[in-house]
Amino acid sequence: MTTSKNTTDEVIHPVKYVETLRGGTAHVILFSDGKKYVVKWFGVKKARGKEVVNEYVVSKLAQLLSLPIVPFKLVYIPEDFLKNTPQLHKKKQSYHSGIHYACVFIENSTVFENVRQSLPSKTEVKNRDMLAGVTVFDQWLNNSDRGTMNVILERLSDERYYVHMIDHGRCFPGGYQWTSKTLMNEPVYTYHWPFYKWVYSLLHDAQELTSYIDNIVDLPNESIYEVIQSIPNEWNVDTEDKEALYQFLLKQKKDLPNIINTIIEYQGQ
Ligand SMILES: Nc1ncnc2c1ncn2[C@@H]1O[C@H](COP(=O)(O)OP(=O)(O)OP(=O)(O)O)[C@@H](O)[C@H]1O
Ligand SMILES: [Mg+2]
Repeated sequence: MTTSKNTTDEVIHPVKYVETLRGGTAHVILFSDGKKYVVKWFGVKKARGKEVVNEYVVSKLAQLLSLPIVPFKLVYIPEDFLKNTPQLHKKKQSYHSGIHYACVFIENSTVFENVRQSLPSKTEVKNRDMLAGVTVFDQWLNNSDRGTMNVILERLSDERYYVHMIDHGRCFPGGYQWTSKTLMNEPVYTYHWPFYKWVYSLLHDAQELTSYIDNIVDLPNESIYEVIQSIPNEWNVDTEDKEALYQFLLKQKKDLPNIINTIIEYQGQ
């Protein structure tokens, strides 16, 4: 048995506000472990009631599948920290103390948008073999927000890039505001967006996509259930919503072969 401390369980505290990120509601904060985290706040905007729930659930599922999700934690932001941070005193946004979502701020990174004019080649991407997985995963969850600002590329010391997935606030039918009702809506897919087109150009063959389906299908339903059950109570997801999300994810597992076939046909066009 190892005696080393599992750092993912380490409780950390906010120490210093660093900066506000592009959308205006995600903020970089230095924490007590010496790392900077991007904090995404529960309840900051009324119209985004499920944003942070989605960030959390999707990150947990991505972690179970060993996809390149940025390391994340649930963090507690105390009232005192808010009081002493004027940057978080906003009229149009409400920052409350409590449990929020935080992922490590990746230094030396740039958004996919910034490499669109000269796309990295196969050999320039260290984790190229994960990209088919990211694509299939996004369809499973009906991520409708894998835009060019929601993928970041970290520059490694060997000059290659490591691709990280970020921003999973707009997943599942209904996105920021899904309910048990909206989850019944037919998903609208975005597999023709620029990031995915780049992924298709880097694949060895279409088999890379189809073979990833099994990774998701084989993810035990109990694990998916546990992820949903672990959503913090403070985030007000009621039993009906949780059950509906669970059923949605199981249904999407069954539909994945069809969805991926559609993508492969699209690629062949
Ligand atoms: N972990 C991270 N490391 C480095 N940069 C990040 C990280 N997370 C986010 N960013 C940067 O901050 C930007 C905004 O982050 P994110 O998309 O998560 O916030 P958002 O509030 O959803 O914004 P928007 O609504 O504009 O998408 C990203 O496009 C990226 O440039
Ligand atoms: Mg974003």
